[in-house]
Amino acid sequence: MPNRVSEEVIEEVRKSNDIADVVGEYVQLKKQGRNYFGLCPFHGEKSPSFSVTQEKQIFHCFGCGKGGNVLTFIMEIEDFSFYEALKFLADRSGIELPENTIQNQNTISTENQNVLTAYEWVTKLYHHLLRYTKDGQEGYQYFKERGINDETIGAFQLGFAPNAKNFTSEFLEKKGYHQQILVKAGLISLNEDNNISDRFRGRVTIPIRNHLGKTIGFGARTITGQEPKYLNSPESELFQKGKILYNFDLAKKHIRRQNEVVLFEGYMDVISAFQAGVKNSVATMGTSLTEFQAKLLRRYVDTVIICYDADNAGVEATYKAAELLRTTGCQVKIANLRENMDPDSFIREYGDEPFKEEVIKSSKTFMSFYMQYTKKDYNLRNEGDRIHYIEDILKQLAMIESPVEREYYLKELSNEYSISMDTLTQELQDHRQKMGIHKDKREKNRYTNRVSNLQSSARLLPAFQNAERQLLAHMLQNISIADKVQEELGASFNVDTHKVVATHLYAFYEEGHEADVSRFIEALSDSALKQLVTELAMMPVSEDISDREINDYIRVIHAEQSSMKDIHSLKEQQKLAEQQNDPIKAAQIAMQIIELQKQLKNIN
Ligand code: UTP
Ligand code: MN
Repeated sequence: MPNRVSEEVIEEVRKSNDIADVVGEYVQLKKQGRNYFGLCPFHGEKSPSFSVTQEKQIFHCFGCGKGGNVLTFIMEIEDFSFYEALKFLADRSGIELPENTIQNQNTISTENQNVLTAYEWVTKLYHHLLRYTKDGQEGYQYFKERGINDETIGAFQLGFAPNAKNFTSEFLEKKGYHQQILVKAGLISLNEDNNISDRFRGRVTIPIRNHLGKTIGFGARTITGQEPKYLNSPESELFQKGKILYNFDLAKKHIRRQNEVVLFEGYMDVISAFQAGVKNSVATMGTSLTEFQAKLLRRYVDTVIICYDADNAGVEATYKAAELLRTTGCQVKIANLRENMDPDSFIREYGDEPFKEEVIKSSKTFMSFYMQYTKKDYNLRNEGDRIHYIEDILKQLAMIESPVEREYYLKELSNEYSISMDTLTQELQDHRQKMGIHKDKREKNRYTNRVSNLQSSARLLPAFQNAERQLLAHMLQNISIADKVQEELGASFNVDTHKVVATHLYAFYEEGHEADVSRFIEALSDSALKQLVTELAMMPVSEDISDREINDYIRVIHAEQSSMKDIHSLKEQQKLAEQQNDPIKAAQIAMQIIELQKQLKNIN
């Protein structure tokens, strides 16, 4: 386990990085009253519900609920561990972390660290060989023939593993690496006769980097038509294909800026697209898109453009990935590649601009892809099949939120299959009703209205919950209120998470801390709790609250507790009466319960 960094150091780093400045480097913030507002970088949105307060040194998004202090922000936005974020902010403000913090605080094992440094050496070695030596000439030639220029070769650190058995192992052993580690890392292979040899020899190497830009594996392509086409590093703790997207580290800032990502199937597609100027490009690595990857993308963008090969396998994979991304909440578009083309060969044949304009910018909506894709399941010359096809499309259409978009496709169907718009519209409404979509829509509106609800008045919560939230909000700002509540209520809040926050807060003050939300968040380890605390801290509460108001809140909370207890015991009695076949008594108790519940509603 890593040693803890001292609290003083964390404090120093936090204090010397003003949250508004740091967030401002990622999000355009506008000052409104005491707070800053902007578009939330953690979920797609069109109107700003993300806010930052300098006074409290915290951020909070009223839309997605994310919140925290400057360290949490960097962890979230850069995908950093706590120590990485601390180091990042320390560097930013010119603070030197104590030597031992940097070395000992690393969350990865020494063995994995050795693997990483070995990969770093080999990445440089293979790249150097390819770029500047005769030994790497074949590799260099190969990329040149594929239209890859020197700048791109440099940006992706493309390389060549010389066709010699022990070149790499000798190089690394001289640097002090044990054979065992290198075998485990997959840089050298152990044959049946226990001889070792360089795993990637004679192949061009494409370093696969993690989100921090560190090489964690290679995809090594044959240049002589050997099988397999790509030899990859073996899966390990550091290298898990299902969790990594190729090129995510370089693409990240472009992805965020454009709120859009282009998803490819192959290394070479990404490399060519990047060179063509489509820099928000990432790829899976020979496996289908996983839920992990879909969620990762969702955190960064609204829209994913899928740009897979336009052959049968590619179209099937496109459909699968699209469905997964849609359930994750992404908008999906499908790049407009001609049949049987792949992105890389399109770029080589037609050039960079046509790729950007005719393929990426002319992406189709998911719906129009789906209308085409589903045709394969039906024989559209047969009337019965045609009806089923239209039903199928209507079901998909029913899920589309935008009425304009729905109408657009209805027209298309209407024209293509000569069915009146009235009929189609009616059918579509039926589907929406059946799917309960009207209800969803109301919920959605409530959700988008949440910002104003939250900011102007209390949310539509039961009174005791509001009372608890109000009290906690005050307690976060004022030690003496916390003291009073601790005395009179202790941790007896009704909502479990409120209990937990109160308990932590009491402890925080008992340790001698001032009221400082940003610092308090640091003391919490659970990210859901951090979010709740920032949400509470962002509630607009007046600074001078009377004792009477506090007492009122406490009273409401107590009342809820005792009524809940009464109702609970009445329910037990009711059950007993039923078991004893005493329906009259059971009914009487039921009446009492209803009465109590009514009273509860009135207090609330
Ligand atoms: P492709 O065959 O489409 O790769 O496989 P590509 O990148 O377009 O290759 P080129 O253009 O022929 O050089 C898509 C991805 O599947 C994985 C790789 O990640 C590849 O980029 N793959 C493919 C393998 O891991 N091994 C293989 O043998 C083939
Ligand atoms: Mn390909």
